[in-house]
Amino acid sequence: MKLFDVYPLNNITVVKAKGSYIWDDNGLQYLDLYGGHAVISIGHTHPHYVQRVTEQLNKIGFYSNSVRLPIQEELAEKLGKVSGKESYQLFLCNSGAEANENAMKLASFHTGRKKIIAFTKSFHGRTSLAVAATDNPAIVAPVNQTNNIIFLPFNDETSLEACFNAQGKEIAAVIVEGIQGVGGINVAKESFIQKIRSLCTQHGSVFIADSVQCGYGRTGKFFSHDHANVDADIYSLAKGMGNGFPVAGILIAPDLHSKHGMLGTTFGGNPLACAAALAVLEVIESEKLMDNAKKIGDHIQTELKKISELQNVRGKGLMIGFDVPDTLKDLRKNLLFNQNIFTGEAKPNVIRLLPSLAFNKKDADQFLESIQEEIHAPALNG
Ligand SMILES: Cc1ncc(COP(=O)(O)O)c(C=O)c1O
Repeated sequence: MKLFDVYPLNNITVVKAKGSYIWDDNGLQYLDLYGGHAVISIGHTHPHYVQRVTEQLNKIGFYSNSVRLPIQEELAEKLGKVSGKESYQLFLCNSGAEANENAMKLASFHTGRKKIIAFTKSFHGRTSLAVAATDNPAIVAPVNQTNNIIFLPFNDETSLEACFNAQGKEIAAVIVEGIQGVGGINVAKESFIQKIRSLCTQHGSVFIADSVQCGYGRTGKFFSHDHANVDADIYSLAKGMGNGFPVAGILIAPDLHSKHGMLGTTFGGNPLACAAALAVLEVIESEKLMDNAKKIGDHIQTELKKISELQNVRGKGLMIGFDVPDTLKDLRKNLLFNQNIFTGEAKPNVIRLLPSLAFNKKDADQFLESIQEEIHAPALNG
């Protein structure tokens, strides 16, 4: 059987990883500022993580949500504490799309309404409602098309207000990333997030903070939406939550009530996933990784801003993007193949940096030196 060919692949076979480094099958070492798409939050193969997951696997790897699984309560308790949302409720699932799917479904159950506001350049996943709320017609299949999603310009408070004034009674939810990831590292203005909060409160709609990529401490606060000092009604989580183990969830405000059978999943919240998620939170806390993300992220941004060839350096903490001019269009590829550095991208010309929250200054400086070298030696590299 062949693999279904949907991913354009780099011709690199990775076989080993540790901290911020990856090795290929030829023993070549790479510096990882991509984290497998913002997934590696505490560093590859962190010893505490490996130990906690191994110990859990030796006890019990899986049982379904038909019995009590105390490790789920342990995770809810820890997540409440580390995120500062102690009064919220936790529903566990398996991926970012599934988290957003459940968030929007719950908002619709709660309000009895159908319309969801999403924004230009948003990305919320590839399943039915999540992809419908994603601003990329190329990945929306005919069966996913719905007139229940209203797209508005990102960071535009006036059109948001106008939409609520016109049809506030129909709006079940607003879904927004605190920093758009796939869309190219576009930071939501604090006043925009505050406006979403106040309009949702005023019209009885649910504020969904998609924190799948921008959350989990990456920006120096647990949720990037926290920079605006307001609470959302639902936060969706995935990526960094399991440091590579597929685990996701939604945090649900206390006034949204559950009913048996309302949401559900076979694999969500299995003991192995919970052990991975607990290990991540324990390391974030003990190694003060949110502080590190802010400190190292600020350093990288400050230094990148001094490189005149790079435009619009932006982001928060260790979620950074910048525009690459046409004359350096191979920069990302050259960083990978000449300097052995993984970075992320966003079409058409953005380089995205999403390293682990434990990324250190030495590695940051190596990256900064390498990028200078690539920018100033384009003739050599072709
Ligand atoms: C903001 C955001 N939401 C949702 C998703 C979907 O997550 P998953 O690929 O785990 O379904 C992504 C993935 O990139 C994302 O960046």
